[in-house]
Amino acid sequence: PAVGVIVVAAGSGTRLGAGIPKAFVSLAGSTVLEHALAPVFRLRDAVQVVVVVPADRVGEAEAIGRRAAGKAADHLRVAVGGDTRQSSVLAGLAALWPGVRTVLVHDAARALTPTEQFERVIDAAARTGWGVVPGLPVTDTIKRVDAGDLVEQTVDRAALRAVQTPQAFPRDGLVAAFRVAEDRLAAATDDAALYADAGHPVLTVAGSEAAFKITTPWDAQRAERLLVDRDR
Ligand code: C5P
Repeated sequence: PAVGVIVVAAGSGTRLGAGIPKAFVSLAGSTVLEHALAPVFRLRDAVQVVVVVPADRVGEAEAIGRRAAGKAADHLRVAVGGDTRQSSVLAGLAALWPGVRTVLVHDAARALTPTEQFERVIDAAARTGWGVVPGLPVTDTIKRVDAGDLVEQTVDRAALRAVQTPQAFPRDGLVAAFRVAEDRLAAATDDAALYADAGHPVLTVAGSEAAFKITTPWDAQRAERLLVDRDR
């Protein structure tokens, strides 16, 4: 397959406070990682998948991956992540098959992301050749504040998007953007920022509320409730 999906799952999950890495926390009977992989293996066209996990979770991730992949198990690899999200993405890029031309980077923590969101991103990337990120309009009013929390400005939210994953890029361009940005990788909160900094266009397409990132215990409770309702 010409499309590769890097699922980064090497975070420690400190803010979730479960005492184990977030992707390995169980929600409604399966791990966050298994929930996150399910839509990837339901895609219309087969993709190659690299799951990036902490060093001591490789065996467990292989077992989870095999379960999620079913007959597509030979399309799955597991790589060891790093201390920052960007170093984990780099490990995923290094593990991609040679034939992959378009790469999607996806947070395992967005475990309920619908298959349609992956399809939308893949289709837009194929159509444009640009970077593509899913995003939602911002519903809260956003203020810029100074160091003393005094409001400086109300930002026009009509021009804002809260962006999610999966984010798609031409593989070669993303690898080059990471290389150029080597000294400021850690400061980037998403891959599209690095890709755009390298001078490439990045298009936003519709995201979905279901693709929220499981970060806090409140998020985990919400995800679990949604999963239980869905399977009922
Ligand atoms: O920390 P945060 O929730 O923003 O992480 C987003 C995603 O990046 C998660 O799926 C997490 O597992 C992954 N990550 C990683 N390696 C790190 C830090 C985060 O793979 N060192």
